Amino acid sequence: MIIQTIRMKSVTAEGMGTLSVFEAEHDVPFAIKRIYYIHDVPAGVQRGGHAHKKLRQLLWCPYGKIRIRLDNGREKTDVMLDDPTIGLVVEHYMWREMFWEQDNSVLCVAADSFYEAEDYIRDYDEFLNAIKGKDLD
Ligand code: TYD
Repeated sequence: MIIQTIRMKSVTAEGMGTLSVFEAEHDVPFAIKRIYYIHDVPAGVQRGGHAHKKLRQLLWCPYGKIRIRLDNGREKTDVMLDDPTIGLVVEHYMWREMFWEQDNSVLCVAADSFYEAEDYIRDYDEFLNAIKGKDLD
């Protein structure tokens, strides 16, 4: 499975922290229509458990440690998000599960579309059926 990550441009000011930035369409391979973030999550929690028919997303963890399990229906790969300068591109038809490895880790998501409940596939067998015959990475 090809894991697509982007390293954000980061500017460190001596003793004053770091500013990290990415630009839609320049650094991320799509225009961004929606940003959401998941916070106040205790360690040990698992979220996700779905895929999307069309949605493309960039996931990043500005604080903490979150393990992302990607599953394209043929193989599964875990990606640890524990570096605020790394973004993970998640394409459509990718089953994902997110594991909070550390209390209060924050998961930020930039998405290429507005929220559409109908775009979700929440049943794993339905996901496997949906990807049959599709030419996906
Ligand atoms: P969901 O995508 O299922 O989150 P997770 O996989 O992390 O559990 O969304 C959780 C709830 O939030 C669900 O009821 C749908 C709602 N939601 C919105 O209303 N708008 C949004 O943009 C998103 C992403 C979720």
